[in-house]
Amino acid sequence: MAGKAGFCYGVKRAIEMTLAAAAEEKGPIYTLGPLIHNPRVVQDLAQKGIKEINSLDQVDGGTVIIRSHGVSPEVFRQAADKGIKIIDATCPFVGRAQKFAREMAEKGLPVYIVGDPGHPEVQGILGWSGGKGIVIENADQISQVDHSKVGLVAQTTQPVANYQGVVEALKQQGVEVDARNTICLATGERQRAALELAKQVDVMVVVGGRESANTKKLAKICRESGTPTYHVESAAELQEEWFRGVKTAGLTAGASTPDAIIEEVKRRMKELDQMTNGEEEMKDAMEV
Ligand code: F3S
Repeated sequence: MAGKAGFCYGVKRAIEMTLAAAAEEKGPIYTLGPLIHNPRVVQDLAQKGIKEINSLDQVDGGTVIIRSHGVSPEVFRQAADKGIKIIDATCPFVGRAQKFAREMAEKGLPVYIVGDPGHPEVQGILGWSGGKGIVIENADQISQVDHSKVGLVAQTTQPVANYQGVVEALKQQGVEVDARNTICLATGERQRAALELAKQVDVMVVVGGRESANTKKLAKICRESGTPTYHVESAAELQEEWFRGVKTAGLTAGASTPDAIIEEVKRRMKELDQMTNGEEEMKDAMEV
């Protein structure tokens, strides 16, 4: 098992806040977008009566949970206008990036946001930048900068090297950069632990939602180490032949994968080991 794997602080907190709301709130409860990228968790929440909506336009009241990615201030305004109660489960690390963006914009600085323009977290930070936000994916996108000073924050899951590359590219243009490293350690720690383990084992299994960006990234890192790697959502997807003749198998999980699913996968891997390699050992013993 990788040293760091599974739920990060912000995801765990968002789930706990949602479950507490389900127990306490009287009216309907919704999450704005899937609470986390794990189909099993989303199904469990649906069974508890927590529905997913894509926009506040879809509801006229009740309670809406803001997931760990956060949202733009416009969503809070719209909720207040419609009398919708908001439970804000924005991860505090994301909240920090939003706060810096707001402060920089208030000072009149353009706010560079290093991240994926399509990601909801980046869209949220953009909203807090008061119309002064500019999303930059990497240093190659820095060309002529018309400002002598800019503010800069990063999507929490950005690789540090990418963030540093953008800061350097701006400095090389003679721009003064008020750079705030808002990258969360959880992602890097999980990636380092996964790579370290992948280098030591014969096969890697990565558990997590197929749509989960951080799980896909973990699988990519493991694969790039040269170790055969399989990305599964559940124990049912594991296949016997992946473990045939394998001495050591490694396991890691994305930040949105519940412990229960990780445990199920681990148990099934042990069963498959017994079934495949146990048989081989028995055959070898009989031949001797
Ligand atoms: Fe928060 Fe970091 Fe997780 S920003 S949601 S603790 S990956």
